[in-house]
Amino acid sequence: MKLSTLAALFLLHLSSVRGQTCEDFAPPAEIHGRKFFSSYSGDYLAIKGISYYPRPNEGDLTVTNSIDFFTEEYRSIWERDIEEFKDLGVNAIRIYAVDPGKNHDGFMCALKAAGIYVIVGLAAECFNCAITSDAPPLCYPAELKRRGEFIIQQFAKYENVLAFSAGNEVSLHRTSHSTENAPCQKKFIRDMRAYVQRCSDSMRKIPIGVIKADVERENKALYYNCRSDPDDELENADFIGINSYLHCDGAATGIDELVGYSKLLEDYESFGMTVPVLWTEFGCLNESFEEVEGYETQRNFLQVEALYSKTYREEFAGGFVFEYSTEKSMAQDESPYPFDTFGPDNWGVGHFEPENCDDVTTPCEYERFPEWYNLAEKYAAVDTSDEPNKLFYEREWNDPVPPTCPDEFPPLDSFAWPSELVPQLPQECPVEMPVFCAGVPLECNVVTLPPVSSAPVSCRWIVTLTLGTAIGQALLALLV
Ligand SMILES: *[C@@H]1O[C@H](CO)[C@@H](O)[C@H](O)[C@H]1NC(C)=O
Repeated sequence: MKLSTLAALFLLHLSSVRGQTCEDFAPPAEIHGRKFFSSYSGDYLAIKGISYYPRPNEGDLTVTNSIDFFTEEYRSIWERDIEEFKDLGVNAIRIYAVDPGKNHDGFMCALKAAGIYVIVGLAAECFNCAITSDAPPLCYPAELKRRGEFIIQQFAKYENVLAFSAGNEVSLHRTSHSTENAPCQKKFIRDMRAYVQRCSDSMRKIPIGVIKADVERENKALYYNCRSDPDDELENADFIGINSYLHCDGAATGIDELVGYSKLLEDYESFGMTVPVLWTEFGCLNESFEEVEGYETQRNFLQVEALYSKTYREEFAGGFVFEYSTEKSMAQDESPYPFDTFGPDNWGVGHFEPENCDDVTTPCEYERFPEWYNLAEKYAAVDTSDEPNKLFYEREWNDPVPPTCPDEFPPLDSFAWPSELVPQLPQECPVEMPVFCAGVPLECNVVTLPPVSSAPVSCRWIVTLTLGTAIGQALLALLV
């Protein structure tokens, strides 16, 4: 009886993953040159993403920009949304702020089971949780270093972390070059890369990058890609994200008519970047888009056709549409609920209903806008099968020399950084702890296997893990 139950459960498990390989479960990504690749197959990985911050329409969960929705407490919210991500056909999401003191296993595992990667932000809206607008070196608080390392330590075990972002749109506040806060951002990136390197025995080399507004384009691109000390290999960001809201004329019918994007391409072609560049937010709004089924100005996402075309792929590694859901508290002044009129902050490809939902007493439900289907169609049509795999780029991009730093930024070592002056205990490295996700085959789950010398894993434990947490626990109950 027990054996047959076991066999039945095992078959159930096999059939649920039949035809799928680890490639379908967001295996670790790696960078060669300006592109991402799957470390499992070596295939090119086009990042087709969406920005995610599920702010409900009303209530306590609307008040800040940095609620960590990605914990067990909010499981009903992200379970609802991951189903939408699957239907939308994205393979990546971008989240902005997390609380590293909380457990994210459930969320990250559910995304992995859906084959979805995540860019995790290291900054947040709290005291000393981000680069400030002070002049360097004070714009980089020592506490931020600790926070960043703590987040990396907690998230390193998830194979589907695509990268960490060391900041979102820093360097907007100051324009005078002598007080520009960009050196703080750069030093923070360097510190985080140093942590990843120091911990290389127990974690993979997860990229640390930076996300910036698409302003002062050349300076910012070169500055974060360059090394003010040419011998310091940790100084450059591992990737660069640009939040780019350029030309989006509803009358444009071909990608050549996206004037601003053609210019963006031309500019980046001239920079000689040696790291991937992602459009970490894109998809601008314009009154010229068509009305569809009673909803004004529905975006057609012609940019997707541009971004994943052969020419653009040489410079850009993919992107994240902004954003999953319209945030009522931001949008409602100019585009009242149900957001069927044009408004400059009606950014979602869908919204939440009912109008007063708060995800505490009244659950929100996701309602797609007509443009949701436009985006799904564009993402589904992306074809990058003509990209060579990583072996080609490993040869092509053998230790490329980063561009020279723009003159106006002082070298990093010309500042006395609080992160070095304030004595701190070194942050511990991540513990070699595999995470086994329900719904993901065992062999696709292992992050870092414990050292061979560690205690042997019992047979029953293996079965439990293979079957995934939920079924496994039921089975364990049967066996004991
Ligand atoms: C919005 O659309 C108008 C009219 O089609 C166009 O002239 C304008 O450039 C567009 N705005 C942006 C930011 O692309």
